[in-house]
Amino acid sequence: MIAFPRTALAQELVAALQGKAVLGDAHNGLFLAAPRRTGKSTFLQGDLRPALQAAGVVVVYVDLWADARRDPGGLIAEAIARALEPQLGLVARTAKKAGVDKVKVGGLEVDTRKIGTVDGLTLTDALRLLHERAGKPVALIIDEAQHALTSEAGEAAMTALKSARDQLNQPGVVNLMLVMSGSDRDKLLRLVNTAGAPFYGSQVQRMPPLGPDFIAHVAALIEAQRPELKPLDQNLLHRAFETFGFRPQFFMAALGQVLSPLAALTERFEPALLEAAKHQQAQDETQMESEYLGLKPTEQAVLWRLLAQGPRFRPYDAEALRFYRDKTGHPVSVAQAQKALEALRQRMPALVWKSARGEYAVEDAAMHRWFEARMAARDWPPSPPQGMLPLEDE
Ligand SMILES: Nc1ncnc2c1ncn2[C@@H]1O[C@H](COP(=O)(O)OP(=O)(O)O)[C@@H](O)[C@H]1O
Ligand SMILES: [Mg+2]
Repeated sequence: MIAFPRTALAQELVAALQGKAVLGDAHNGLFLAAPRRTGKSTFLQGDLRPALQAAGVVVVYVDLWADARRDPGGLIAEAIARALEPQLGLVARTAKKAGVDKVKVGGLEVDTRKIGTVDGLTLTDALRLLHERAGKPVALIIDEAQHALTSEAGEAAMTALKSARDQLNQPGVVNLMLVMSGSDRDKLLRLVNTAGAPFYGSQVQRMPPLGPDFIAHVAALIEAQRPELKPLDQNLLHRAFETFGFRPQFFMAALGQVLSPLAALTERFEPALLEAAKHQQAQDETQMESEYLGLKPTEQAVLWRLLAQGPRFRPYDAEALRFYRDKTGHPVSVAQAQKALEALRQRMPALVWKSARGEYAVEDAAMHRWFEARMAARDWPPSPPQGMLPLEDE
């Protein structure tokens, strides 16, 4: 399916970024959080980028998850450099080909060998240059921005971006727009909510999931192909979509299955879709449970503490150590807790995330929902199935 366009949301955000919204301070940076696979990247690239371009803005997009092995700071610099290259125009490119190292562009000396790396140029200089050469405001969209916090170079890049924003923007004039998205609100919050955070004072907003208009669009597509199914039960479709965690990919795949002639349904397909959604949800939970049960007792205790404490998690304070001892039934030293945390980070896929400043979070925020639901149902911790022996710490 072609992505469902989200034009209205894009327009709203463009106005906010330009400082035209009555409320809010998106012109100081827009921070958008939504769970994985709910359509953030699709929206940022497919809706927001063209809407900004149409409003006369040069857009630089970078996804810090595109290549997890690359340093986030380098990825950001490179994306800016790539946007800069065509703007430097003939002069710089000719000079580069001719082997001339330095050219003057807009009062700045640019090392042409380093175009594409920005080393020679600070991020602020590069963004200023891009803005001046293009004669337009610049929007920098950083997808999965929380990843920048996992390295010092990434953190430094964030601080540099804030300073670039402060230098390029004046009251009423927005020359640099910053959009940062993230799959985990708690992690994204670390960019804005501590006194030393690069964007202290900004708010993280929830990016709205696809809604009833998306469901109506899908329903219309189905009705056009299968008129005999009219009218579709859109409420039930929406409930199924919600149960799929607002993830369009799973929803569309399940739709394809229940609508397939091979499904040989004798009843309406909508309830079967909802069943499929519940089944998927149960499967996701079973997966998390079996991962949890596959951990050593100290790892389980550390993860449990992290799930229970969220952003307040302190891995080695006296209370945490007492907690680990209670749960494992034996004393746990700081070194052992450290080793367990490290093991949780090194797993594939990783269960724990760590920032360059030593803050921890669960890698996948869906785990929090799972934990909360099981706590509410008084069904925590997961217990091994009968006959399966619990693992031992070595
Ligand atoms: N607007 C949309 N219309 C239809 N499908 C979408 C839309 N947005 C996302 N999807 C589907 O959901 C999948 C995940 O979207 P993506 O943008 O990668 O999510 P995220 O960046 O939040 O993890 C995409 O591969 C696509 O199949
Ligand atoms: Mg994405």
